[in-house]
Amino acid sequence: MQHFLSTQDWTKSELDQLLLAAKRLQQSPWNERMRRRSIALLFFNPSLRTRTSFELGMHQLGGHAVVLQPGKDAWGIAFEESTVMDGSEEEHMKEVAGVLSRYCDLIAVRAFPKGQDWLVDRQDLLIHHLAKYSQVPVINMETILHPCQELAFIMALQQRIGSVAKKRMTLTWTWHPKALNTAVANSALLIGTRFGMDVTLLIPEQAYALDEQFMQQAHSNAQASGGSVEVTTNIEQAYRDADVVYAKSWGALPLYGQVQEEQKLREPYRHFIVDEAKMSLTNNAVFSHCLPLRRNVKATDAVMDSPQCMALEEAENRLHVQKAIMLKLLNA
Ligand code: CP
Repeated sequence: MQHFLSTQDWTKSELDQLLLAAKRLQQSPWNERMRRRSIALLFFNPSLRTRTSFELGMHQLGGHAVVLQPGKDAWGIAFEESTVMDGSEEEHMKEVAGVLSRYCDLIAVRAFPKGQDWLVDRQDLLIHHLAKYSQVPVINMETILHPCQELAFIMALQQRIGSVAKKRMTLTWTWHPKALNTAVANSALLIGTRFGMDVTLLIPEQAYALDEQFMQQAHSNAQASGGSVEVTTNIEQAYRDADVVYAKSWGALPLYGQVQEEQKLREPYRHFIVDEAKMSLTNNAVFSHCLPLRRNVKATDAVMDSPQCMALEEAENRLHVQKAIMLKLLNA
């Protein structure tokens, strides 16, 4: 049984087929290929795009989506092996996976890292436990990776610029008042290198480097695809001649869980905002972000409202790629 936990588990040819199917679904959104099929959407964290696009996507395919928010409108869920459940959680992932597998054909989960210990969170245990105990395919709606966002991004990029191989992609850290999840940055790094892009990761200082497991995967991807990866703290160098600028904010992993210390570290770096001056250094680059985005904090109004911004196309494509993923996982 195939899950959709990371694009790294899927071959390049399979990813290409998903993108092709997504483009067809964009042209022809409605069919009945999921008739009498259902998906459980487990949201441990808030969402606008993911929830809407999965619910509507299943509806457009003739199926049904059930939204559950563990700890809010569903019981809190423990997932560690052999845990003594004397805390706030009322049931274990073993039963949750077993029960939902009997009701539904697919299970999708959003479970952001807990933000206390990166050595624990980097193992992505919750979704891997869910996949282990589930009798039906599991889809990652964002944990420490955001693979649905990856495909939506690449689809939007292909629709804007055609073949993305050997195009220069700048993945820039941006300032934000809070230390955010690294998932989208990890994912952008993986999908860019997987599709043969020359990816430059722009960070304000070494503390904002991404986890070694994803850097290693990105280097392997680049070696296989003919792309490349480099890391820089030099803003001008990163933006110069870029074809694509992708922005995201994330927390410094060495200060993971140390909220105040991390805030102090990031304070001098507000100037990493994506603005017209930086974009003018590029090769008329397209700009994108996964959304939600704080305007005039991560990117200026001028950048967000420019014809170069494809963030809405990327968001739209979440609908199409997720429908393609659901259909593929069920061979529908
Ligand atoms: N990009 C994204 O996943 O958006 P939501 O958090 O609103 O689902």
